[in-house]
Amino acid sequence: MPSKKAVCLSRAVKARAREKLDLLVVNADELVTLSGEAQKPRTGKQMRELGIIRDGGLAVKDGRIVAVGKTTDITKAFKAENVVRANGKIVLPGFVDPHTHLVFAGSREDEFQMRLAGASYMEILKAGGGILKTVRETRKASFEKLVEHGTETLDAMLEHGTTTVEAKSGYGLTTRDELKMLEVVKRLNQLHSVDIVPTFLGAHAIPKEFDNNLQGYVNLVTEEMIPRVTEKGLAEFCDVFCEKGVFSLEQTRRILTIGKNSGLKPKVHADEMSRLGGAELAADIGAVSADHLLFSSEEGIKAMAEKGVAAILLPAAAFSLMINRYADAREMIDCGVPVALGTDFNPNCWVENQQLVIGLACHFMKMTPAEAITATTINAAHAVSRANEVGSLEVGKKADVIILDVPNHKFLGYRFGVNLVDKVIKNGRIVVDKEASRSEFRLLEKQKM
Ligand code: NIG
Ligand code: FE
Repeated sequence: MPSKKAVCLSRAVKARAREKLDLLVVNADELVTLSGEAQKPRTGKQMRELGIIRDGGLAVKDGRIVAVGKTTDITKAFKAENVVRANGKIVLPGFVDPHTHLVFAGSREDEFQMRLAGASYMEILKAGGGILKTVRETRKASFEKLVEHGTETLDAMLEHGTTTVEAKSGYGLTTRDELKMLEVVKRLNQLHSVDIVPTFLGAHAIPKEFDNNLQGYVNLVTEEMIPRVTEKGLAEFCDVFCEKGVFSLEQTRRILTIGKNSGLKPKVHADEMSRLGGAELAADIGAVSADHLLFSSEEGIKAMAEKGVAAILLPAAAFSLMINRYADAREMIDCGVPVALGTDFNPNCWVENQQLVIGLACHFMKMTPAEAITATTINAAHAVSRANEVGSLEVGKKADVIILDVPNHKFLGYRFGVNLVDKVIKNGRIVVDKEASRSEFRLLEKQKM
């Protein structure tokens, strides 16, 4: 038997041999890795496979994940000044929100009252409200004001576990104002730790000035806006609101094709309020995603599966439309469509929280918690071309990690209405720490007594 002293010494030697890193996360009841699908999104049954490591841990250096495994293996190989213990909790990749209208000014709570009284979304838009009301307010707003508001939104998203977000323009609808919106997105990306993927959505509505000249507006989008946006490198994707009374299938095809030829990858708001054939069009032009899809046909869904077009489902948007209809997620998963989930954060659907979206997806579209987790992480990352960087906990990826205060992943969707985030780690740094602020509340309580 070695003496007590000898044991200590050997421990010290061992500790010296361990590589010193920036941060370790250890003792997670479940470490949900989503590993192994960097090349393509998960489809069908794979959407339920989360790659869970029980009593798992990971190690971080220079903002990147350098090891993932059992806690014992992680602690044997590494040490760090900052060690986060996740006992009783689960660890996931940061959520990716693949569809948001992040930047806007004003609000539409009065229209919410009108919709409660029976007015439809499209009636309000046709009467010059809806998107067009937000356009008026966004045009008037200064660059600084938009940055300030966008920052508050990103703060809320991050507090709820979202570490990467797609952001669309579309409330400018003049070349100058669309560029202004995309410059705001660029600035926010520089200022805030949340990573932003920019999308040009000049074809979001027909501005009042073009009421009787829709073709003229499509020409403006294709001949002036797209060239300016690409010349300035302000967007990675191009999107169109393809809908009856907004942009037709032909106009959508034209805009997205010209965008694609200029280097903007296509996305489309498809079949949200009517069965127009947006899903088929998305498959035909090779869009990266088709979004909403409440009214898509079976053929459209099959075509998307064949072409590997991601379905970005937005149950919070469907919820706020109040038409008791949701996309057929089960059919899409069964057909092999890679399904992702987003908030559709916008002034008609003011929600920053992907945990709530998971709850809605489970309750209204019968997705399982595991499928919904896949849809808000690795599949959402694929849907915005970021799967090489984020969306799973794998060596080499960004250390964008969230710790949720629940004992297993099946609590997502099941426990809703509170923020389950305990900690958010962005690029290897702890940026949200609820446990720390809670212990402060409790200390304050004591001091009061
Ligand atoms: O994704 N449907 C079109 N665009 C958004 C809504 C934008 C708005 O109402 O301001 C959507 O639902
Ligand atoms: Fe949208």
